[in-house]
Amino acid sequence: MKILMVLCAVVAACYGECENKDRSFPSDFLFGCATAAVQIEGGWNADGKGESIWDRITHRYPELVSGPVLNPDVSCDSYNNWKRDVEMMREMGLTAYRFSLSWSRILPKGFANEVNPKGIEYYNNLINEMVKYNITPLVTLYHWDLPQPLQDLGGLANPLITKWFEDYARVAFTNFGDRVKHWITFNEPREVCYEGYGFNNKAPLVNSSAIGTYVCAKNLVLSHANAYHLYDKEFKPIQGGECGITLSVQWFYPMTDSAEDAYAAEIMRQAEWGIYAHPIYSKEGGFPKEFAERVAAKSKEQGFGWSRLGEYTEEEKAWARGTSDFFGINHYTAFQISATKYIEASPVPSLTDDEGFGHFRPAEWPVAASAWCVMAPNSLYNAITFLNNKYNPPKFIITENGWSIAIGRDLIDDDRITYHRAAWEDVLDLLAAGVNVKGYMAWSLMDNWEWLGGVTERFGLYAVDFEDPARTRTARKSAFVYKQLIKDRCIDYSYNPTNLTMTIDE
Ligand code: NOJ
Repeated sequence: MKILMVLCAVVAACYGECENKDRSFPSDFLFGCATAAVQIEGGWNADGKGESIWDRITHRYPELVSGPVLNPDVSCDSYNNWKRDVEMMREMGLTAYRFSLSWSRILPKGFANEVNPKGIEYYNNLINEMVKYNITPLVTLYHWDLPQPLQDLGGLANPLITKWFEDYARVAFTNFGDRVKHWITFNEPREVCYEGYGFNNKAPLVNSSAIGTYVCAKNLVLSHANAYHLYDKEFKPIQGGECGITLSVQWFYPMTDSAEDAYAAEIMRQAEWGIYAHPIYSKEGGFPKEFAERVAAKSKEQGFGWSRLGEYTEEEKAWARGTSDFFGINHYTAFQISATKYIEASPVPSLTDDEGFGHFRPAEWPVAASAWCVMAPNSLYNAITFLNNKYNPPKFIITENGWSIAIGRDLIDDDRITYHRAAWEDVLDLLAAGVNVKGYMAWSLMDNWEWLGGVTERFGLYAVDFEDPARTRTARKSAFVYKQLIKDRCIDYSYNPTNLTMTIDE
């Protein structure tokens, strides 16, 4: 025993026993972490990179960003620290890593006539280093950073985006597709459209809730569909990978058993993510029926001669339907929805008025440092079960799930560990129920630049010192707990590491 304790102190990672080894993850289950270009790379104008919409808004309106780091100019400096990033993946034993390409690092002006060789080189270096250590790359083409010249032409409000995005996708598939077998076209359409075009808390700050959100929604789905068809027709036969999309799926519980609350929760699901899921995953295609009827009726009352939601032609429906080889889901949080209570006044017209129901969160649901993020019972299980029953996609990949802690907290992040373990239990329940979940990516590999939250909301399994020019990364307790899970493939509640010295297990 004494010898074991000494060894534990030296080796740091000493594992106990999982209570129930039968509840374990399959050997081919992908365990990874996720990040995004803007949030970690820095090098905002290095080696020919062009300006993105996040560079533009943070340079023009730094007052919009909270905390000490007002822009993503340097963030985690992964543009220079990519070797260390892969080393962290190896320390935890990750089998996958999800990251995004910066469109304007590859195509500085957004269009494919001018490719930046230094941008291609950066991603080649990163991908090659991962492949060298058997870490599977999952690559997102668009994680919110449109090249500014394309925004100047309307961005996702311009239907030509479908062609511009397809051209960009072709450059990515051509240059990286020999090694990248998992492509995600868009990350979180809801946040792109609802927050970036509908409100002003994400770039490009369009703030057109009643119309901008919906215009963006359809253009985004058709852009995705173009990239999917391109891959499917020209690249999949040679490269043999898969292509899909990642939606952010918050879970909406009906507040009571009443039929009215069930309807209200369903409307919320359709409005928040069904408008992206339905055209792609449903058999009939197009926008979800009940929400479409609701917006059409309201638009009429409001004096519009057409539904603000818009509609898909039969040809567009057919083009978008079935265009995802997997359902990528980012899941963090949940609400209870009521048809009658907690309804707040919204501007008319607006998307929140189109939704029109009350949101509630019971006090016993713990809240993260990000006020929008709560731990609700079995919300991941509920969300995926619902999607599986409704759309029955070929498979699910959990492309993000995570918990933030406040700035200044130390390396002991027990609340994050509780959150992740609860999510892993949900995944085990889904697997036991026969749902085809193929991977889990924790958000995030390290603390990073959390959009307008700056560096005040820390999601990292590794802490990053943003005051240190080297942006030193240090493993938190949660990194050790994730490492235990990956190594044993089951959750060991007795594992409670105290020595946080991280090393690579050879
Ligand atoms: C989802 C987004 O994809 C990611 O960029 C963000 O940092 C996390 N949510 C946490 O807010």
